[in-house]
Amino acid sequence: MRHGENEQDAPSWSKRGAVAVDAADRSIVRPVALVTGAARRVGRAVAECLAARGFTIALHYFRSRQAAGELAEQLRSRYGVEVAPIGADLTVAEAGEELVARVGERFGRVDLVVTCASQWESVPLERADGAALERAWRTNVLASYVPARACGLRMVSQDEGGCIVLIGDWAIARPYRDYAPYLVAKGAIPTLTRVLAVELAARNPKVRVNAILPGPVLLPEATGQAEAETVRRSTLVKAIGSPADVADLVVYFYEHPFVTGAVVPVDGGRSVYCPDEAPGSVG
Ligand SMILES: NC(=O)c1ccc[n+]([C@@H]2O[C@H](COP(=O)([O-])OP(=O)(O)OC[C@H]3O[C@@H](n4cnc5c(N)ncnc54)[C@H](OP(=O)(O)O)[C@@H]3O)[C@@H](O)[C@H]2O)c1
Repeated sequence: MRHGENEQDAPSWSKRGAVAVDAADRSIVRPVALVTGAARRVGRAVAECLAARGFTIALHYFRSRQAAGELAEQLRSRYGVEVAPIGADLTVAEAGEELVARVGERFGRVDLVVTCASQWESVPLERADGAALERAWRTNVLASYVPARACGLRMVSQDEGGCIVLIGDWAIARPYRDYAPYLVAKGAIPTLTRVLAVELAARNPKVRVNAILPGPVLLPEATGQAEAETVRRSTLVKAIGSPADVADLVVYFYEHPFVTGAVVPVDGGRSVYCPDEAPGSVG
């Protein structure tokens, strides 16, 4: 079943999960998921998908405080799960450490972390100087590295280990124009995935790290119809994906203990296909 089709009938959230086996049993400790950038867009879909499966959610936001609060309320009333919105500017390393510390203080554990926080900024090469690269590095690498590493070290001390899912971008394989700093930074995500997979497994083999490289799963709100159509045609499957495609793979990674160090595009074939028509920069 795909997320969003019939969540109320979803099977128990954890086939092989860390702690609980029955989402209806409140005496059982539920697994805790930290989702960064969870107030809106893809992160929001991931948080909702996990809440529908009975996870306790640490719902990170940066600027979208109100949206985070409203989503938390929705998830609590719809799925009966505990949700804690926590704000942090993840370009600041100390704030990322503090975020994970707060999750630990509040819930005592973390079983899954999904790093959706990111900034997709268009900068023509003429203006893509060191400062632009540093900015992109902070929002796309540091903002993932710090919470993932801190959660990973915490997972090492848990008997059940844990699962880390980093979010990259398909376009590191075939860059489009005007996003040099963003794409260079996103290029670090597969390496970060493999480094953490090796480092953390050496400390506890039950800690796993994987990455998802989305393609066009949710276009910017301002995207026009013609541009969206060009993006659609630029995939092999002739479709624009959905945030649920990403959320479903997060669940797969969580539930499959033999999968670690994997970097998986969810891009409709975008990364292996070079359409005749230039697709522009969207998606
Ligand atoms: N959407 C797509 O089709 C697509 C395609 C390829 C790759 N991806 C990747 O998939 C992930 C999610 O995509 P998305 O489109 O949902 O991302 P997005 O809307 O660009 O950003 C997600 C969230 O990142 C948070 N964020 C920005 N700066 C931050 C900071 N300094 N500290 C902490 N959080 C910060 C924002 O939270 P607030 O709103 O709370 O400020 C924002 O809502 C990203 O890694 C993106 O690169 C998406």
